[in-house]
Amino acid sequence: MTLLHNISRTLQRRRNTTWHALGYDTTVRAETAADIDAIANLTRHAFNNEAEVKLITKLRQAQDDCVALVAEQHGKVVGHILFSPATLEHYPDTRLMVLAPMAVSNVLQHQGIGSALVRAGLEQCKKRGIQAVVVLGHPAYYPRFGFVPASGYGIRCPWPVADEAFMLLELTDGAVREKTGQVLYHPAFAEL
Ligand SMILES: CC(C)(COP(=O)(O)OP(=O)(O)OC[C@H]1O[C@@H](n2cnc3c(N)ncnc32)[C@H](O)[C@@H]1OP(=O)(O)O)[C@@H](O)C(=O)NCCC(=O)NCCS
Repeated sequence: MTLLHNISRTLQRRRNTTWHALGYDTTVRAETAADIDAIANLTRHAFNNEAEVKLITKLRQAQDDCVALVAEQHGKVVGHILFSPATLEHYPDTRLMVLAPMAVSNVLQHQGIGSALVRAGLEQCKKRGIQAVVVLGHPAYYPRFGFVPASGYGIRCPWPVADEAFMLLELTDGAVREKTGQVLYHPAFAEL
């Protein structure tokens, strides 16, 4: 761990959804229509790809009940996270959210902005009565928020992926207990 990283960690003072990272005020808030171009730019650069930008556009158009948050520093969007509704085959009443995609400005990564977006997003999902969140991502990153391999619950990803990369976090205890099967994502994900 670098000295700079340690200093960054020390300087992070979280208070509600505003905190200081490396001396900059960072706020996490709901995405608005005025953020759309900035989110597209940020996502394009973070992934070095257009696919995630297209995915965000499709999910935004198709689903009103997404949780979409931005991190802002001095009026500039520096991070974005999207949670879109999903459910379980055989259990259509189970309210899940898929966490994807998320991105932080390339030059501002490793300062806790991504973590703040994940935590704020999970809080919003919980407030909306979402029972569990799934994510297909790096197994070194998401467990810090409580995600565990979904396979432990007998819950499967629609695509062939490494077991530990498909993770789930219950927002209410026992929400997916004994509800095995595949997660039904929005069709836009299949086009990625
Ligand atoms: C993933 C991402 C959003 C994290 O944002 P961030 O602001 O850098 O995250 P934080 O500062 O909260 O956390 C940094 C930690 O995440 C880890 N991390 C970041 N990206 C990672 C990855 N792809 N795989 C594994 N670990 C990762 C870092 O090593 C660091 O770990 P540490 O705290 O133990 O040192 C950011 O790196 C990003 O935009 N990446 C490109 C797009 C992407 O891959 N998005 C995720 C898939 S949808």
